Amino acid sequence: MENSVVLKNDFLGRSLAVINDFTVDEQLFLYNQTYRLKQKWLNKEDLSEFMINKNVGIYIVFIEPSTRTKESFINAAKFHKKARVTIFDSNHSSFNKKESYVDTFNMLTGYSDYSIFIVRTKLEGTCRLLERSVSQFALRNNLPIPSFINAGDGKHEHPTQELLDEFTFLEKKNFDNSFIHIALVGDLLHGRTVHSKINGLKIFKSVKVDLIAPEEISMPFHYIEKMKNNGFEVRIFESIEKYLKQKDIADIWYFTRLQLERMGEDILEKEFILRNSVTFRKDFLSLLPHQVKFYHPLPRHKIHPTIPTFLDKLPLNGWEKQAINGYWTRIILLSMFGGALKADFNTSVKTEMLDEPKIDDEKFIVNAEVKNGNKGVQKEGKRGIKPIKNGTVIDHIAKGKKTEEIYLTIMKIRKIMKFFDIDSADGIFKSEDGNFKGYISLPDRYLTKKEIKKLSAISPNITVNIIKNSRVIKKYRIKLPPKVYGFEELRCKNENCITNPIYGENVKGSFIKDEKGQLICEYCETPHDYNEIWDI
Ligand code: CP
Repeated sequence: MENSVVLKNDFLGRSLAVINDFTVDEQLFLYNQTYRLKQKWLNKEDLSEFMINKNVGIYIVFIEPSTRTKESFINAAKFHKKARVTIFDSNHSSFNKKESYVDTFNMLTGYSDYSIFIVRTKLEGTCRLLERSVSQFALRNNLPIPSFINAGDGKHEHPTQELLDEFTFLEKKNFDNSFIHIALVGDLLHGRTVHSKINGLKIFKSVKVDLIAPEEISMPFHYIEKMKNNGFEVRIFESIEKYLKQKDIADIWYFTRLQLERMGEDILEKEFILRNSVTFRKDFLSLLPHQVKFYHPLPRHKIHPTIPTFLDKLPLNGWEKQAINGYWTRIILLSMFGGALKADFNTSVKTEMLDEPKIDDEKFIVNAEVKNGNKGVQKEGKRGIKPIKNGTVIDHIAKGKKTEEIYLTIMKIRKIMKFFDIDSADGIFKSEDGNFKGYISLPDRYLTKKEIKKLSAISPNITVNIIKNSRVIKKYRIKLPPKVYGFEELRCKNENCITNPIYGENVKGSFIKDEKGQLICEYCETPHDYNEIWDI
């Protein structure tokens, strides 16, 4: 199958692993339909247009505790009277017999015409893995592609919480999406609901975000960068107290609880100071402008809530209506994935995930000029390299770096590439521009395209010289490829990523290069430098 985008206007077979899996138009469609559903329900009108009328199996699979998300999904699923709802008992399922997630969901996919899986787990990137692997199973067995809904994965994302949050903000703003000024308060390091805001807030045409958290629990830098790339104005404050000392105060405050269970001992020692920085106090009330509403994904901490309970009865309380909206937005999400609602525009299904990119299509290997009479190898020989008659010389390794780093890169290349060839030599020498660089020679050996690709992701910007009869007959400069995948030694640095071998899913690391040259894990989206993706 060629890489392609299939245009259609339904949502069957779509998944929601991260909020960005919906375009802005698709998100707005969901909010518009949720508004219609709520209005019809209030007016006691017929709601059948929203109900799934296919043989759809909805599986609710929670491998981590949940009250709101789980119960709102169970009730939302039961709204769809014709769907078969299974609340999967993960404690007594074959997960406990060391069956992989992929195997389990493959099997369940065969039991309905259409399947929708709602999955909560602490393993980050699980839904993306299931979406990819189980789609392949469905294609092999002529079954419709199932939908996966991420109901929260570790500290990564919580896209359905994002749907109900954005819908609630729109309700407050009478569905005017021209501008939002929002303060995100609390544990911005571990809070998956605030991480989903980085792309979820794109439904607003203009976005101003104030981040309120002490440094120890501040928003990770790469998320701040993404917000700025999305065109958001971002301001950073250490505490609510400092925030309220200035006058430009957001009318939407989104609190999160401190996730102490995910913090190390050094951070926990400062628990009192951290809490104080992000907990609202009575004396702050007079500093708030009118029209401010507070929101919280809930649960609040029962002893130290960041929104204290004395605020429950004040007009500031937006979090209760927000929690109820979880039911309505999740009904509509299931209506869409179950085929009951179609958009009046083209929805898009990316099919790249079903294809393996072809190495030939990738433009990271560039032919370089071989000058007439090039005596490259002999020239290097004068500096100590053992000249080779036939084979490969890898040159320009870690050019411009310190000699120690160049040496370590040579060793790394040898280890990962298994370059242990007899008579192979390596070394460091000064190039004509005064910079140091490393080389490795491989007598009587020519690299495959796959090996060159691997090399390019271990040490980009090197040169591969093909030597025949003591002459350089071909020269390639290799750059970091757009996607690095398919090699045993690849490993995401996030210990909680579903690709971590300790979780036994047998999935290799896979990374996509972003516009800044960082390699983003395809599953948990952790950014990496190319040095960080190899498990050696
Ligand atoms: N907001 C939220 O995800 O709550 P639960 O953990 O109870 O599902």
